[in-house]
Amino acid sequence: MPHSTAFARNQWYVAAYSEEVGRELLGRTVIGEPLVFYRAEEDGAAVALHDRCVHRRFPLSASGLDGDRIVCGYHGFTYDRTGACVYVPGQKRVPRTARVASYPVVEQDSLVWVWIGDPALADPRTIPRARHLDGPGWVTVRGMEPIDADYGLLVDNLLDLSHETYLHGGHIGTPEVAETPITTEVDEGAGIIRISRHMDDTECPSFHARSTGIEGRITRRQDIEYHAPCLYLLHSRIAPVGVVPEPDGSDPHGFHTEITYAITPSAYGKVYDFWMVSRDWATDDGEVTEFLRGNNHTVVMQDVDALNLLQRTLGTERTGHQELSINIDTGGLAARRILGRLVEEGAEPAEGVR
Ligand code: FES
Ligand SMILES: [Fe+2]
Repeated sequence: MPHSTAFARNQWYVAAYSEEVGRELLGRTVIGEPLVFYRAEEDGAAVALHDRCVHRRFPLSASGLDGDRIVCGYHGFTYDRTGACVYVPGQKRVPRTARVASYPVVEQDSLVWVWIGDPALADPRTIPRARHLDGPGWVTVRGMEPIDADYGLLVDNLLDLSHETYLHGGHIGTPEVAETPITTEVDEGAGIIRISRHMDDTECPSFHARSTGIEGRITRRQDIEYHAPCLYLLHSRIAPVGVVPEPDGSDPHGFHTEITYAITPSAYGKVYDFWMVSRDWATDDGEVTEFLRGNNHTVVMQDVDALNLLQRTLGTERTGHQELSINIDTGGLAARRILGRLVEEGAEPAEGVR
């Protein structure tokens, strides 16, 4: 068993970007469940079904659509959008038990959220918002990288940005990031962790200098808001030193960037890293868009490579190795605690207790 954090079942997870779900079948595995997605012709809604044919388990995502029905690519078992099998070859009677599971899906803020656990508990109102992703006045670049690492390692990575200084040095990291202490606030009940790092007078990383055109030193704020288990928001503001928001809260000379991640556990030891960078400045400057797309991809790949390496390394070690945590890990440790609780809440009742 690779290094792995248990999955919280009764939770919403981002399975895809809205733009990825269309008339081509899309296969994704979320907390161990193989899923197939498509967009129904009938009403444009995203559909999520179990991705294994009941006949011989051929992946439906490698099959084809006939209208809003999936026709298994192996022997033709045909499923409607509820997962009911409506046709089998060579006989009139379709076995009553022939159906694949269908899953609640909600599209919101350009994200496709899916619920794998008990459907009776799936409440769309509990899905955290990220309005900037398709809000007016914002431009977003995005991508998704599958990582062969436990999702807990990606949570650790994102909740402790001191690594920017080392892993992303020369891009978004400067010495001050690691040097500046953080404040951490944990809302245990809501499962939200807030971690802030405010640098009042700091070097401007070349990445930000090039994208914003700021010359000289900056104030730089990183305010993380992690909605366990899946959604991670990083509110970033940079501005020339001394420039403060107007009393009414407007901030014409500050640069606000919303960095969003969806951390979606796939199988054990595998995670989907959905990354998005939204800005409300220079929105019609295509060069800035392309710069941010390319450079963020580079930075994300630095994390991907590091986590692939870390997972492989942990996999070769005896279990029960010790870690040593310090102040920068406060947020990550709180996340582990909250994830542990969410896992317990979604645990299947033991056999016989049902
Ligand atoms: S495996 Fe799907 S029809 Fe045979
Ligand atoms: Fe990183």
